[in-house]
Amino acid sequence: MTISRRQFMTTVLGGTAGAVLLSAAGCGGPSAGQTAVLLRSKTKLPPRFAVPLPIPPVKQPTAVVGGVQHYDIAQHTTSIEILPGMQTEIMGYDGIFPGPTIESRSGQPIAVNHTNNFTMPTVVHLHGGHTAAASDGYPIDFVLPQSGGDMFMHHGMVGDVSQGSRQYDYSLDQRASTLWYHDHRMDFTAQSVYRGLAGFHIVRDDVEDALPLPDGDREILLMITDRAFGADGAFRYPAKDPAMMHTPGTTAAYMSGVLGDVVLVNGAPWPQLEVEAARYRLRFLNASNARRYGLALSPKPSKGKSFVQIGSDGGLLSAPVKHDEIQIAAAERFDVIVDFSAYKVGTDVTLTNTLGTGSTDAVMRFKVTKSATDDSSVPDKLSDVEPLEPGPNAVHREWKFTRGVVNDHAGWTINDKAFDPGRMDARPKLGEVEVWRFYSDLHHPIHVHLSPFQVLSRGNGNPGEYDVGWKDTIDLRPAEFAEVAIKFTTYTGKYLLHCHNLEHEDMAMMAAFETV
Ligand code: C2O
Ligand code: CU
Ligand code: CU
Repeated sequence: MTISRRQFMTTVLGGTAGAVLLSAAGCGGPSAGQTAVLLRSKTKLPPRFAVPLPIPPVKQPTAVVGGVQHYDIAQHTTSIEILPGMQTEIMGYDGIFPGPTIESRSGQPIAVNHTNNFTMPTVVHLHGGHTAAASDGYPIDFVLPQSGGDMFMHHGMVGDVSQGSRQYDYSLDQRASTLWYHDHRMDFTAQSVYRGLAGFHIVRDDVEDALPLPDGDREILLMITDRAFGADGAFRYPAKDPAMMHTPGTTAAYMSGVLGDVVLVNGAPWPQLEVEAARYRLRFLNASNARRYGLALSPKPSKGKSFVQIGSDGGLLSAPVKHDEIQIAAAERFDVIVDFSAYKVGTDVTLTNTLGTGSTDAVMRFKVTKSATDDSSVPDKLSDVEPLEPGPNAVHREWKFTRGVVNDHAGWTINDKAFDPGRMDARPKLGEVEVWRFYSDLHHPIHVHLSPFQVLSRGNGNPGEYDVGWKDTIDLRPAEFAEVAIKFTTYTGKYLLHCHNLEHEDMAMMAAFETV
């Protein structure tokens, strides 16, 4: 049975609760540089820089069928130790958080079979993947639980549903880049990702392999998230049901986004990594629900800037860009080189967060333990980034991301409309460069599926310092607009653009388009 978004919102949001949403101060109060509210832990916070950085395991294929590598991932709950001496129940891909890392080659398709062992539906999306619509994780294309999934067929909107498991096919006909996979179920993405459903997917190619960049033990994936914990060590989240986000006096405040007070990297609180005095490639992913970070090193290196950026969401830049700080919004990736030989052996180098306060003003620590030989380097030319040039008759579209009214209540909207998976808001033609203009009232990290884009301008000026290269998510700040050039290729079908503040996303700040 299919019901409309309007009916759905009435059912779920009912009553007058929505009216208080936008006062939104909450106990923590709004935070600087964020559109979100702090949820505090009820347990004592763990010491910082006391546990080693975990490295998620690389997933091995279970079979190769006709040249296609097949992977099997079991989604299930487990209890793991995140805070020392405490157990936290997580929802994990293979029962771990982050999920296993998938390593692929550009142009070599793979298939991932996901089995749902939860009691609720899931949807898997490969963020940054150039993926056919049937495998892109449309938010109502549920994978129902192995057992007891039938109840989910009787209410709400359903699309192309699978029972128990689903095979996702990824063509990976795209540049080497840092992708990630995560849950994308309509209205429930925020809590599923918060509870652990996120993992890395790395695509490699010959262009990148030919460069003398640091690799092996000197290439480190860093998934940054923030979480709050209950007194018993459980993840704290405002509610299990989005309806609860609207209950006055309890969780309404968190509609603007949930911030935690514990920073996790690869699932560990403020971890430490021992490094040699050499160049490292750090691939940052902000997998937080809502938090923005200003990443910086303390102390700064004795020479040069802290970070040499070599890649963005969509892979290598054409040439490196130097930064002393990297502002990273939810879902963005920054691929950087840090040269620890600029520090004396024995130095503790803290990765700080200039946008954090109190416990969140740091992310992790690097300990420079020994000198080492280093034959890596960062070439001045990294790759060819062919500019997307919109022609004089290019289609222009406008997308306005604002707080709005959703069925008489406060919510988050795009062009004043709540998400409706049955409504297509654009029909872009494959192979044509279009110009999309995004407007925002507050902080909205805006993400487009299927194809990456290039930022043409921010406000009336040039792109910002973090907009360089191929992007699939742009960090739009309050009262801002930006123009991007985008070209969809290969696949016709239904895709999404949305705000990647996951609370905004679940509160309807999503739009569907159909490539034709
Ligand atoms: Cu990472 Cu549509 O999302
Ligand atoms: Cu995506
Ligand atoms: Cu938003």
